[in-house]
Amino acid sequence: MTKETLEIPRGYRVLGIETSCDETAVGIIKNARVESSVVVGQNDLHSDFGGVVPELASRAHTRAIWQAVEGAMAQAGIDAPAKDLDAIAVTYGPGLAGSLMVGVAASKALATAYDLPLVAVDHMEGHMFAAALESQIPLPALTLLVSGGHSQLIAVEGLGSYRFLGGTLDDAVGEAFDKVARMLGLGFPGGPEIERLANNGDENVANFPIGLRAGGLDFSFSGLKTAVLRFLEKGTGAKPEDVAAAFQKAAVESLVLKVEYALKNHGPFKSVVIGGGVAANSRLRSRIHQTCEKFAIEAVIPSKGLCTDNGAMIAAAGTYRLSVGGVVGLNLSVDPTLELVSE
Ligand code: KG4
Ligand code: ZN
Repeated sequence: MTKETLEIPRGYRVLGIETSCDETAVGIIKNARVESSVVVGQNDLHSDFGGVVPELASRAHTRAIWQAVEGAMAQAGIDAPAKDLDAIAVTYGPGLAGSLMVGVAASKALATAYDLPLVAVDHMEGHMFAAALESQIPLPALTLLVSGGHSQLIAVEGLGSYRFLGGTLDDAVGEAFDKVARMLGLGFPGGPEIERLANNGDENVANFPIGLRAGGLDFSFSGLKTAVLRFLEKGTGAKPEDVAAAFQKAAVESLVLKVEYALKNHGPFKSVVIGGGVAANSRLRSRIHQTCEKFAIEAVIPSKGLCTDNGAMIAAAGTYRLSVGGVVGLNLSVDPTLELVSE
């Protein structure tokens, strides 16, 4: 029988490690609630480059990982991991190979030292489970996962039961935010910078294109990115605030358009879940609320700290994997191009 809501199984305490990109993150959840979450960022390191530099990222993970593990254990009051924890969960893909390797190596060390089961987690499933840390998710759920590396629409029918509906044909939406931020001379990551600037901007200064407007469930953001570049090259004298606002509007409306298309044509759905770094964007959050009101379904929107990469979401997805016996061996390897598939 399919359950009517997606919930994280109770009765487990799991430590989750996340190092797929530029955040060294460790979180612990117990009985489906966050006990601790430590996130060590690397923004200063990548800021000059306008994007994540893989070699710098993996070295920084190596420096930060044990401090993050110890911090998360201390916050949760764990001093005897072997008896206090039920498993170690780790992101093994998708992501940067060298970065993933640091987390996977650390997880193996912990699993060995404390004789704990090891659970492998898909980063995108982690983003999906972030929402389940704060609310029960009415099923079936339409999930929009939007980060620096992905833009995906997935129908969630039950725990581990996913139907891929659409994805980006070129850039991820977070990548577009980061690239446009760079064009405007802003720092990295670009999403929060664009949002801050856009708050004081006039979004009607330009009418930037919405990719693949005609239909279907795939996204495209490279045309939008190029349109912003061309607009800036023209030297219209428009203020950066206005360009940021007009770009943010087009990017968010591209996402909302496809969410509404999926709700109309691929439902019925009882909720819309958002996850990934771009889900921290206030305009996207309020537009998803409006859409859900219009369709009379629930909007499941995690708090901002759970949208960007964190270890608690990996512990959450890991708890589910553990509950269905998904323990892996110490020969676990990273899978940089991992794709989320159903059981
Ligand atoms: O999920 P995440 O932390 O890491 C990946 O898995 O990629 O997402 C990072 C992405 C970056 O591209 C960043 O610019 C974007 O999320 N982001 C935002 C906001 N906060 C982070 N984009 C738009 N608005 C935001 N407030
Ligand atoms: Zn992510």
